[in-house]
Amino acid sequence: MEDTLESLLTSSKEFQSLKQHYEEVSSIKMRDQFEQSSTRFDEFNVNAAGLSLDYSKNRITSQTLPLLTQLAHFRQLPQAINAMFAGEEINESEHRPALHTALRNFSDDPVFVDGVDVMPEVRSTLTRMKEFCWRIRNQHWRGFSNKPFTDVVSIGIGGSFLGPKLASQALKPYWSKKINCHYLANIDGSNLTEVLQGLSPETTVFIVQSKSFGTQETLKNATECRQWFLDNGGKEADLPRHFTAVTANVAKAKEFGIAEENVFPMWDWVGGRYSLWSAIGLPLMLTIGHENYRQLLLGAYEMDCHFKTAPFEKNLPVIMGLLGVWYINFFNAQSHAILPYDHYLRGLPAHIQQLDMESNGKSVNKQGEALDYQAGPIIWGGVGSNGQHAYHQLLHQGTQFAPCDFILPLMTHNPVGHFHELLASNCLSQSQALMQGKTLQEAKSELMAEGLSDAEISVLAPQKVIPGNRPSNTIYFDKATPKIIGALIALYEHKVFVQGQIWGVNSFDQWGVELGKKLGEKVNSALLTDVNNDISDQFDASTSGLIKAFRSMKDKL
Ligand code: F6P
Repeated sequence: MEDTLESLLTSSKEFQSLKQHYEEVSSIKMRDQFEQSSTRFDEFNVNAAGLSLDYSKNRITSQTLPLLTQLAHFRQLPQAINAMFAGEEINESEHRPALHTALRNFSDDPVFVDGVDVMPEVRSTLTRMKEFCWRIRNQHWRGFSNKPFTDVVSIGIGGSFLGPKLASQALKPYWSKKINCHYLANIDGSNLTEVLQGLSPETTVFIVQSKSFGTQETLKNATECRQWFLDNGGKEADLPRHFTAVTANVAKAKEFGIAEENVFPMWDWVGGRYSLWSAIGLPLMLTIGHENYRQLLLGAYEMDCHFKTAPFEKNLPVIMGLLGVWYINFFNAQSHAILPYDHYLRGLPAHIQQLDMESNGKSVNKQGEALDYQAGPIIWGGVGSNGQHAYHQLLHQGTQFAPCDFILPLMTHNPVGHFHELLASNCLSQSQALMQGKTLQEAKSELMAEGLSDAEISVLAPQKVIPGNRPSNTIYFDKATPKIIGALIALYEHKVFVQGQIWGVNSFDQWGVELGKKLGEKVNSALLTDVNNDISDQFDASTSGLIKAFRSMKDKL
């Protein structure tokens, strides 16, 4: 196959320059760099849209980012950024634009899809969302017994769940006291039972969230919720009051029984994992109100403007994206940890998992060529300081290499004594420990001071060495407000875009999830058949063995 832009990545002079740079700098210790320079924090610190990025605890010199930026230009990142915002069909395999940025476009500029400016429809949908939420929050739209709604159940999975769930959790301090929000995602009776427990049909409104309106989990849950509604006092005629939908497939929503006037549109030029900014954000707007939701959009818009206009050396998404490439493609990092030191941001890692891994978890480029380099990392993490008592041991002393993003609001919503100082001190000291480590000599000195014998020290000291030189970013901001949360989520969306462009993959399709869904249909049928029905010729030995075990358990019930 002829050399294309994508297959040229590793043989390009830009990539080769980085390879040589890696040979030159990979043994440098950050600890020494900080000792040699008192201005390193200032040199490697950028701000935008209310966020600050301290990237000084990275395995870089002043030459590293310029070399990475040259690679970005070689991979036509500026052109790709413009193409995305302009609505070009950058999701080539599905012949679609990726225009989640249009949903938070506060400028007067039109955005064209197939020659049509989509902004009027985007804005009219936002107005409909505002009216819907206003009527419910002000008790004008009530349930079938004329009681105001107290609970909203959002039924959806993947991007129709993770984004709204994260934002809801992150903005809990902004929730109305009158509306409680529940998220139902999994095809698991326990999830359904837990969500419906304690709810009353007369005061519950359901939002069926599904871009395709074809996702098995969502449709099954929606059907069960509708039956629960009808079994507990609701009537068919009441359904329009209590069931709404957000989808790109209005016909299927109507077929399900959602009144057309209760369907909020989504568009195929918005990917599921990028859809928080669409009507998928409805449950969030219901709980935090229109103005706070608008602030969320505004924060994302400010990050968009920054991403579009800031020079790469001052561009937060570009810097974070390129640093990730540096570790994945030159240090062979396999994963990346997201460590928010904020209880309200505990859902961030899960959202970024889908955002990053469903976008760049690919091994073939846009030309259909197998990659000869690593692409999307495994994203994991969790809230700090809890993680320090769970997986930070590996981060500090493991054989694995996992760059980390620490995320810290400088102010808390809930000041309690000096808790926030303690939380922040944990955050800062963890990244400090990852950077500076503990040398063998330091370990020996500590043990000698404790009075251990030389024999004991010779065995224990090496086990107490902390290698250090493990990189991390610290993203910090004043307070987790709607605007900041919008900017933070958009930051990661654009970081993922930067990396996808460098690797030449399509960050906006997700063909990999199709096989499992397809195979599931046949397995599901087998699980439902009688235990004596021989299926051994239909599946591999493992799958048929597991099906038999499942069916035999059913027989015991
Ligand atoms: O995981 C596959 C996927 O299509 C995601 O991309 C999407 O967010 C999720 O399933 C839900 O899809 P839908 O919104 O169409 O129900």
